[in-house]
Amino acid sequence: MTQTILIVGASRGLGLGLVAEHLKRGFDVIATVRKTGDEPALKALPGSDRLTIHHLDVTSDADIARLAAALPDPIDVVFINAGISGPKSVVAATADELNAAMQANVFGPIRLAHALADRVREQTGVLALMSSIMGSIAENTSGGMEVYRATKTAQNSFARSLWLGSPRARGVTVLSVHPGWVKTDMGGAGADIDVDTSVSGIADQLKAHAGSHAHRFIDYSGREIAW
Ligand SMILES: NC(=O)c1ccc[n+]([C@@H]2O[C@H](COP(=O)([O-])OP(=O)(O)OC[C@H]3O[C@@H](n4cnc5c(N)ncnc54)[C@H](OP(=O)(O)O)[C@@H]3O)[C@@H](O)[C@H]2O)c1
Repeated sequence: MTQTILIVGASRGLGLGLVAEHLKRGFDVIATVRKTGDEPALKALPGSDRLTIHHLDVTSDADIARLAAALPDPIDVVFINAGISGPKSVVAATADELNAAMQANVFGPIRLAHALADRVREQTGVLALMSSIMGSIAENTSGGMEVYRATKTAQNSFARSLWLGSPRARGVTVLSVHPGWVKTDMGGAGADIDVDTSVSGIADQLKAHAGSHAHRFIDYSGREIAW
């Protein structure tokens, strides 16, 4: 049976790569972009006859409701990838910049995850959120990027609270995923790995963890990250 994956934040970088990888693996893919005009890169991918595109800003409750109403049931994998770097310093940033980072990386993705959690297939479904190793308090030995770090730590915390509700009861696995340090607009040209390496590792992990009925914080190679 053909599996269905929803990838949120698919205009470029890791989201676009996750769409390409899952089309290659034979999935029916539902992708979201924020801006009209971002569809052509997706439509040019091999296998795009199995691709459906919707518009969504994760910070918009109206967009979340519209997407939820348009989705098929059930979905095998929901992958909420959207995110921003945000301001570097909690002191130098304006309140608006801090709020925007929290909305884009925490409240938006988590409210979307809550809206879709019961649409994920029981027992074998996976609900994944793109986190970052920077969200690990235990593995923060260098400091820096303090606002971004805190957004991903908060996202991990909300993901655990979400999993303890209906996903755990329905056997849905929740993953907080670190993609590696990846060459994208956000990761920069000096990053460790390319998009293809990251997304093929992530796709393997989504498959490996389906049915594990847990909430885990892992990287693209399956390494367990300390909270
Ligand atoms: N690259 C890395 O090394 C790295 C490491 C750890 C974690 N991550 C995480 O991986 C995810 C993807 O990062 P990336 O490197 O691919 O970054 P990217 O190239 O900057 O892409 C970010 C994606 O998120 C979308 N997005 C941002 N805000 C959104 C919103 N409010 N609503 C909907 N979509 C939104 C962007 O859409 P637009 O094109 O419309 O802006 C774009 O598709 C992020 O969550 C990031 O924190 C990346």
